[in-house]
Amino acid sequence: MAQLPQAVPEARTGPAARALAVRKDAATSLLLEDHLRIKKLFKQFAQARMAGSTALKKQLAQQTCAELRIHTQIEEEIFYPAVRRASGDPDMVFEAVVEHASASALINQLEGMRADDPMFDARVSVLSEYVLHHIKQEEAEMFPAARKALGAELDAIGQQLAARKAELMQQAGIALEPHVHHRTH
Ligand SMILES: [Fe+2]
Ligand SMILES: [Fe+2]
Repeated sequence: MAQLPQAVPEARTGPAARALAVRKDAATSLLLEDHLRIKKLFKQFAQARMAGSTALKKQLAQQTCAELRIHTQIEEEIFYPAVRRASGDPDMVFEAVVEHASASALINQLEGMRADDPMFDARVSVLSEYVLHHIKQEEAEMFPAARKALGAELDAIGQQLAARKAELMQQAGIALEPHVHHRTH
């Protein structure tokens, strides 16, 4: 009887293992955590909108705008230049910067608005569409390209991102989330 080829356990090769394998560098881990938090905030906003809670909508929109400002700033200051330098694909980075600029224009408008303004929800909604599309592109194209081009350098870049993020959060008067803080050590 022919011997069966030795089975490789699914846990080591399946999608979950691959997801873990690509999440281990400090730079993209930090950015992915930000993405998760931002997506969660947009979901919470949609729930507050359904519940008709103007005060909660305002608070969530403010928090989302603050998170987005800091996230896009550290990407533009530290992560994008490194990707641009190493990947040899400047267009991918330029497009991402243009998308940041569109989001930033909406953020500026939102920050000057009352949550009971009839245009408020529409602006958050369009901002959410822009940002979700942008996050998808980054995770599907830019992060894999960064891992390929930068490799082990991503850990040092992750430390820079974490340090700059902490500084910007402090300037904006936002408390550091405990798990984000721990990950920098
Ligand atoms: Fe981005
Ligand atoms: Fe991002």
